[in-house]
Amino acid sequence: MKVLGIETSCDETSAAVVTDNEASARVASCVILSQDVHAVYRGVVPELASRAHLATIGPVVDHALEDAGIVLGDVDLIAVTEGPGLIGALLVGVSYAKGLGLGSGRPLVGVHHLEAHLFGTALDDSSAVPPFIGLIVSGGHSLLLDVPRWGHYRLLGETRDDAVGEAFDKVGALLQLGYPGGPALERAARNGDPARHRFPRPMLNARQRPGDPDYFDLSMSGLKTAVMHAVQASSDLAADRPHLARGFQDAVIEVLVTKTQRAVELCGRDRVVLAGGVACNRALRDAMATALGGRGATLHAPSPRLSTDNAAMIARAGLFHAAEAGRPVDAAARLPFPGLVRA
Ligand code: KG4
Ligand code: ZN
Repeated sequence: MKVLGIETSCDETSAAVVTDNEASARVASCVILSQDVHAVYRGVVPELASRAHLATIGPVVDHALEDAGIVLGDVDLIAVTEGPGLIGALLVGVSYAKGLGLGSGRPLVGVHHLEAHLFGTALDDSSAVPPFIGLIVSGGHSLLLDVPRWGHYRLLGETRDDAVGEAFDKVGALLQLGYPGGPALERAARNGDPARHRFPRPMLNARQRPGDPDYFDLSMSGLKTAVMHAVQASSDLAADRPHLARGFQDAVIEVLVTKTQRAVELCGRDRVVLAGGVACNRALRDAMATALGGRGATLHAPSPRLSTDNAAMIARAGLFHAAEAGRPVDAAARLPFPGLVRA
């Protein structure tokens, strides 16, 4: 089976071809065009994102088919992100995919962007399969899940305010690191002294017990404010920047690692799948792998290319949902996560 995936939920225009059956999916091509226009505004401007998708979606899809050495007629299924995301941006991908489907007679299936992030890790690492604990940390969402099998997701915790990637971006802006802040902040933190700034570990304390509402939930706003106060108190931001970045990153990592370990223990899982753009963060991956290794669990994280938004993960999720092709596909800014129940 050959699946053409299309992703336009935020500021990446992407198309990919994933081949084979569900057990042995392979990326035949993946084209990702990141929109750089947003850097000027230090954040994604939705209308500009829609316009950029519109200008490039056609060539990006053509390029993905060409890279895979196939033509549209060879495609068995078209999979497109229908949500969640920016509505104008989603509409471009969904409308284009519908047009392709109608014109070619190929079936179309709508995919949930966050579920697709979990499938993305499995594309790089064939042992990243359920049962596992999933930690999705992206620019728009942060979810801690127990995944007994594909299609079944038990929500253990989520952020009560900012997503983890969003916090990286906002703190990156406070540190004048440009947009997106995550990668630049990680680089700055490499030269930081971990002892210079000990920021609060939000929603994390030793008194928390399983069943407490904050046992798994995350919060980033207090930490962000703490960094803001430290920035305001700094008389030499250029000199303090690496230390502030390191202090912030250490706080985020300790919270994520501890909550993930709690999930591993409570649910009795021995695999953790990290997904979403923040999964690119090497310090997070290393700390998570070390902490889990000490408890006999393994970390499965995607390559940086498949951590951030891409259409290969959309095509892979489309393979799983292939039987649903034919149901109506509509762009939705807030789309419920299929198969998600509160634990
Ligand atoms: O998954 P993604 O590409 O888009 C969404 O679905 O939101 O995630 C983008 C997020 C941005 O907030 C970006 O700053 C963050 O991932 N990110 C990182 C790193 N690389 C990307 N955050 C921390 N460290 C990184 N190395
Ligand atoms: Zn994403």
